Amino acid sequence: MKNIAVFASGRGTNFAAIVKAVKNGRIKANLSLLVCDNSKAGVLSKAKKAKIKIALVKNESMIIRYLKENKIDLIVLAGFMRLLSPGFVRRYYGRIINIHPSLLPSFKGAEGIKDAFSYGVKFTGVTVHFVDELMDHGPIILQQAIKIGEGQTIGSLEKKIHKVEHKLYPEAIRLFVEGRLKIAGRKVKIR
Ligand code: GAR
Repeated sequence: MKNIAVFASGRGTNFAAIVKAVKNGRIKANLSLLVCDNSKAGVLSKAKKAKIKIALVKNESMIIRYLKENKIDLIVLAGFMRLLSPGFVRRYYGRIINIHPSLLPSFKGAEGIKDAFSYGVKFTGVTVHFVDELMDHGPIILQQAIKIGEGQTIGSLEKKIHKVEHKLYPEAIRLFVEGRLKIAGRKVKIR
């Protein structure tokens, strides 16, 4: 079975959705490690509760040590608010995925939901993609659009987006684990 590491810095609702999908057998893999760079992050208590090993580290060479030690096959960025170095990304290219709360390549960055809402777009969404050296960038695996209706508030939009994230990310991870994703240049083919 493949070994997964989730990298997270915040609340960890995506982490929790992944834990659930592994527990109920939808994702057939081991969730072997949580890498967290923030000692105050809510995700830490979620990992403790789920009895998942935690690496509280910022330093990339330390992170690599943990990844090797735990024979990690897939790195899942779930609200990891730190740009990984080009060297790190090259080493693991094709084995790192990220989720972002907008329809990339629009509205990259830490405030994807707010930025799309303030811009006034009529559709936004969620993107899961392989990670390259740039921020919120790389071959797109799955994308789901969400309509921003009349009377939509930022709060209700956030809820809608998170709900979609919690379905889309486990689905993308399942495809990876089952060996169904192939990067062909800029595009990802799903078999
Ligand atoms: C998620 O909405 C994720 O898409 C976003 O951080 C949030 C983490 O929430 N990531 C980015 O904005 C990446 N640029 P969570 O800690 O509850 O999973």
